[in-house]
Formats: sequence, C-alpha cells, structure tokens
Amino acid sequence: MLTVLGIETSCDETAAAVVRGSVPGPGEILSNVIASQDEAHRPYGGVVPEIAARAHVDLIDLVIRSALEQSRLSLDEIDAIAVTAGPGLIGGVAVGLSAAKGLALASGKKLVALNHLEAHALTARLTAGVAFPFLLLLVSGGHCQLLICEGVGRFTKLGSTIDDAAGEAFDKTAKILGLGFPGGPAIEKAALKGNPKRFRLPRPLMDAENYDFSFSGLKTAVRRVVESTELTEGSINDIAASFQAAAVDVLLNRTRRAMLGTEARRLGTRNLVVAGGVAANGLLSNSLSNMAQENGYKLVVPPPGLCTDNGAMVAWAGLERAHLGLFSDLDTAARARWPLDSGRSGIPGAKS
Ligand code: KG4
Ligand code: ZN
Repeated sequence: MLTVLGIETSCDETAAAVVRGSVPGPGEILSNVIASQDEAHRPYGGVVPEIAARAHVDLIDLVIRSALEQSRLSLDEIDAIAVTAGPGLIGGVAVGLSAAKGLALASGKKLVALNHLEAHALTARLTAGVAFPFLLLLVSGGHCQLLICEGVGRFTKLGSTIDDAAGEAFDKTAKILGLGFPGGPAIEKAALKGNPKRFRLPRPLMDAENYDFSFSGLKTAVRRVVESTELTEGSINDIAASFQAAAVDVLLNRTRRAMLGTEARRLGTRNLVVAGGVAANGLLSNSLSNMAQENGYKLVVPPPGLCTDNGAMVAWAGLERAHLGLFSDLDTAARARWPLDSGRSGIPGAKS
C-alpha cells in the first residue's frame, strides 16, 4: 500500500490530490482539489499560456495545502510526490515541477516526474483496476491517439491525428459557433437539443487503412456551414449536434479498426480504455460502449471528472511508478513535447 501526492499544472487546471492504494488498483482518492482557470481564459476564447503560468504560481501553494488537509494526512505520511513534467504549456509545467521539487527536497520524499499522457492512460487502473495490456483511445485538448499500453512506460502508438486533436476540434467549433470556452462541454450541451442529421458534415479518414485521425476538414466544413446559415439558437444546436456526430463517428471508426487489428489480436487484449478530456463526452462513451460489446471488448471510461485534467490521475501514475522503484532526480527538466512511446520508461532522469 502506497500513498502519493500528485500535482498537475500542464494546462489550465491547478490541481493536487492524495491517492492511496496498491497496484493494479483500484485506488482510493483521499482528496482531489482542482482550481480551474476557466474564468481567466474565457475572454480570450482559449488558454493563454502566460495567464495560465501566472495563475498556477498564485494557486499552487493553496491547492497543495488543501489537498493535504482534505486527505487528513501530513507530508510525513506520504510515500512519494508525483508531478506532471510534460507535455504541456512549459510555463505551467515548470511551476508544478518546481513546487514538487521544493517539497521533495524539504521533506526528503522521493520525486516521480511523469508524463501527463501516461497519467490519463493509467486512470482506468485507479478507477477500475484494469489489467495490462489494454487498447487505449487517448483524446484530449492536445492529443488524439490510439495506443496499446502493455505496462507502465510501455506504449506502442498505432496512430494519431495528422492535424487537430479531437478536443481542439470541439474547442474550435464551439468558438466558431460562439458557444464559449471550454468548447467540449458547451458543444455537448447544445447538441442535446439539436438535430445531428440536419447538416451533412465530412468524416475525414473514415475507413483509411491505418489508425490515423484528421479533424481539420471537419472544422473547415463547420465554418462553411456557419457562413451560409442564419445563426439562431436552433441552427447552432443543429450544427453542434451534426459536428459532434461526425467527430464521434470518426473516433468510433478508427477505434473499431484498432480493436480488430493485428496488434490487439497479437496481445489477446479485450480491454478498451478511453482517456483524456473528450472521454467525458456522453455520446462518445455510450457509442463506444455499444461498439465494444459488439466486438467482445470491455470498455472502461473513468467518470467525467477524472477524464479531464486532475491531480488524482497524476498521484495514481506516480504510485504505479513508485511501486516499480521508478523515481526521478531533482534535476529532471520540464518538457513541452513528450511522446508517450519515446523510450522504455520515457522518463528523463528516471532510475530504471
Ligand atoms: O485532458 P484535458 O482536460 O486537457 C488536456 O490534456 O488537453 O482535455 C481538455 C479537452 C478540451 O479540448 C475540452 O473541450 C475537451 O477535453 N472536453 C470535451 C468534453 N469535456 C472536455 N470534449 C467533448 N465533450 C466533453 N464533454
Ligand atoms: Zn490532459
């Protein structure tokens, strides 16, 4: 049994959490504090890196202190301090990493500097104890990939987006429609009242003989529809619903191909995990659930609050790494870019 403090600052959520448990999970979330910066970024219709970095500096101490207080544990009772070291907005990542290093140095606790995408990927073990290997659809604001996860730090990428990420497509479409920020939840809400069949939008790379995604053509098509349609509440809802249906169709099509592909068959995996902010989308998870069932797979989607960025996923990924003795040096660098399938442990400065 290990207890880990997790710190997350790679985008626009300042988050910290304390998680306790044993591998392979599920784990117990003792606290999970998230200070969202949505209000600060809303006037700009997207995350402004400079504003995010400053906000992280303002909030980080309070958020970490609250996470410890709510867990009713002192730093002494924590086994390791886990933190996102990338990929993400470098100013924000540096704030969280510096805070974690300071705490580790002052307390003598071990540091686990980890990949944000791995934290998303392993959340299904925190919530449901899913066994390795599993097929992973990772869909967030910055990433859209299909991977096979065979273990901690052991990812094989099957395919990824050749242009926009899935969440980015939701955010940009919401902006075009004047639905505000963040775009994913706004589109989902509008789509509930809309007709998904009213506008015929393209499904890029549908049935392509690889596992790649593309969303920029869909976004351009939405822009064209907006230019030629009178925007009323009704038509906005219909465009949102038509866009969401197209985006979900593409995600389903690519995932189905990966389920039936040779890589998944070779490993004999029957688990499909969806992770990242877009996994919070109800139409996506419901549709994937049906498709998984039809193909003999079990779908695991973390609850929506653990799909979007949070500290608990970082604490859990840190717990998995601490369990394997994969700790990081205090000179570990923050990384803006950091593919999941780079190297065996994928951790700079990791003692593996
Ligand atoms: O994982 P996340 O919180 O941050 C990144 O690591 O990028 O993902 C944020 C993304 C945003 O693009 C947001 O619009 C999208 O996830 N998102 C959604 C939903 N909730 C968040 N997209 C579709 N439907 C949702 N309900
Ligand atoms: Zn994320």
